[in-house]
Amino acid sequence: MRTVSYAVNPETSLTEIRRNDKATFLEYLVEKEIYDFTLAIPHPYKEEDAEEWIRINEQRLEEESPVTTFAIRRGEKLLGCCGFLPAGGPMKHTSEIGYWLGKPHWGQGIMSQVVGKLCEIGFNDLGLFRITAHIFSHNSRSERVLLNNRFRQEGVLRSHYLKDGAYRDAKIFARLKTD
Ligand SMILES: CC(C)(COP(=O)(O)OP(=O)(O)OC[C@H]1O[C@@H](n2cnc3c(N)ncnc32)[C@H](O)[C@@H]1OP(=O)(O)O)[C@@H](O)C(=O)NCCC(=O)NCCS
Repeated sequence: MRTVSYAVNPETSLTEIRRNDKATFLEYLVEKEIYDFTLAIPHPYKEEDAEEWIRINEQRLEEESPVTTFAIRRGEKLLGCCGFLPAGGPMKHTSEIGYWLGKPHWGQGIMSQVVGKLCEIGFNDLGLFRITAHIFSHNSRSERVLLNNRFRQEGVLRSHYLKDGAYRDAKIFARLKTD
C-alpha cells in the first residue's frame, strides 16, 4: 500500500487515511459541532459513513497522484482530516481547502499550522496559484486559522449554502502564491 507523509512540526504529520482509523472517525464525528460547521460530514455519523470515507480514500491513494486528502496525526494517532478540492479547466490553478479536527484537540494551534503546511503543499507540489476556503459566517475559529495563514476575506456570498433547511451565508477567503 502506498503511503504519504508530510511533517507539519516534530509531533504532527499529514499522512494517508488508514483502515484502522475507523474507530477514531466514529469517536470524533459523533460531535454535532463538527457537522454544524462543515458540508460533507453526515450526522448522525454511522459506521457505514466511516467505512465509505476510508474506502474512497483507499481508492484515491491508488489512483491520485499527488495525493490531496490527508489524515492529521500526532504519532500514529488520528487528530482530524484536511485536504484539497482542486478545480479544473480554466480554474486548474486554484483549489478549495477543507479541514476538521476532533474536538479534544481544538484550541492548541494545530490547524493554524496544518493550513500553513497545506499552503506549502498546494503552491509547491500541486502547482496552485490560488487557494480558497469558504466558511459559514459564524465560524470564527476557522476564520482565525485562515487569517493566521495570510488568507484574505474577499467577500460574503449571501445564502450560498442550504443546510438543515436554512439558507446560510458564506465568507470566502483566498491566498495567492504571491501574498
Ligand atoms: C476550525 C478548527 C479546524 C480550528 O482548529 P484549531 O486547531 O482549534 O485552530 P487553532 O487552535 O489553530 O486556531 C483557533 C483560533 O480560533 C480562536 N478561537 C478559539 N475559540 C474561539 C471562539 N469561541 N471564538 C472565536 N475564536 C476562537 C483561537 O484563539 C485561535 O485564534 P488565534 O490563533 O488568533 O489565537 C476546529 O475548531 C474544527 O475542527 N472545527 C469544526 C470543523 C470546522 O469548522 N472546519 C472548518 C470548516 S471551514
